[in-house]
Amino acid sequence: MKKKEKSAMQMQRFESIFQCPVCTSPMKIVEYKSVVCDQNHTFDIAKQGYVNFLTRPVRSEYDKELFEARKTIIDSGLYEPLHSKVREIIGEVQSPKVLDTGCGEGSHLAHILKNANDGVGVGIDIAKEGILSAAKYYDDLIWCVGDLANSPYSLESFDIILNILSPANYTEFTRLLKQDGLLIKVVPKSEYLKEIRNLFYDETYSNEQTVVRFKENFQQVETYELSYKVPLHESLLQPLLRMTPLTWNKMDERKEVRITEISIDLELLVGRKK
Ligand SMILES: C[S@@+](CC[C@H](N)C(=O)[O-])C[C@H]1O[C@@H](n2cnc3c(N)ncnc32)[C@H](O)[C@@H]1O
Ligand SMILES: [Zn+2]
Repeated sequence: MKKKEKSAMQMQRFESIFQCPVCTSPMKIVEYKSVVCDQNHTFDIAKQGYVNFLTRPVRSEYDKELFEARKTIIDSGLYEPLHSKVREIIGEVQSPKVLDTGCGEGSHLAHILKNANDGVGVGIDIAKEGILSAAKYYDDLIWCVGDLANSPYSLESFDIILNILSPANYTEFTRLLKQDGLLIKVVPKSEYLKEIRNLFYDETYSNEQTVVRFKENFQQVETYELSYKVPLHESLLQPLLRMTPLTWNKMDERKEVRITEISIDLELLVGRKK
């Protein structure tokens, strides 16, 4: 079976999650080719197995190279403790519908759901290059190019919303989550990738504002801290430098970079709708 048809079938199984980003009508999968609303607004399923729901062109600073580097680093297992923690939290929900918002190239979602035998994973990102890569490697999941501010999903469709190192949209999170659903937001703490940060920045990073905004919008039910250091294999240095906006416009400042270990320092904020 072709990739496009396989994706179309998966989308059809979970058709009720879709809502037209133009007119908010319900949508259907038509002829395994397109996602079409009651008013006939039509979004084609690409041959690579994803749908672009953007209603206007968007330029993203996140490019193919950055997403390839993120995939290499995530596949190397650097975030495995994060994935198992999220898996543990999701594990309490029966057949969960999971939406990853700002999913990038999809590896976090794919790793988190890798042994899940029911439910569904859906990823949305505004950067087409990210979703192209996601659809290429992970064809059991549903991948959408879209703007979280105008998302193609219907009211209270998801049990779990993930928001990993990506911008939040609490109005949409509230609309999309079921009443008893959980939002899991992953934010960096001050030591996150500090070996890279220290090369280019003097000030330390604080996530205080981000945590305050989370608490203003959601009822915080749990917080987990994940802090660890991992020895860095030489082959991962370049992908590590390329995967993060921390190095944007900075790479010519340092000729030689020596990093032999890398710090992960994350906070998982788990919340319910207020
Ligand atoms: C730092 S990256 C993190 C990607 C992924 N979660 C990861 O950890 O590898 C932030 C992502 O948020 C996405 N993003 C930013 N604004 C968005 C929006 N309005 N709607 C959807 N995605 C958005 C970007 O395209 C980018 O892929
Ligand atoms: Zn429509």
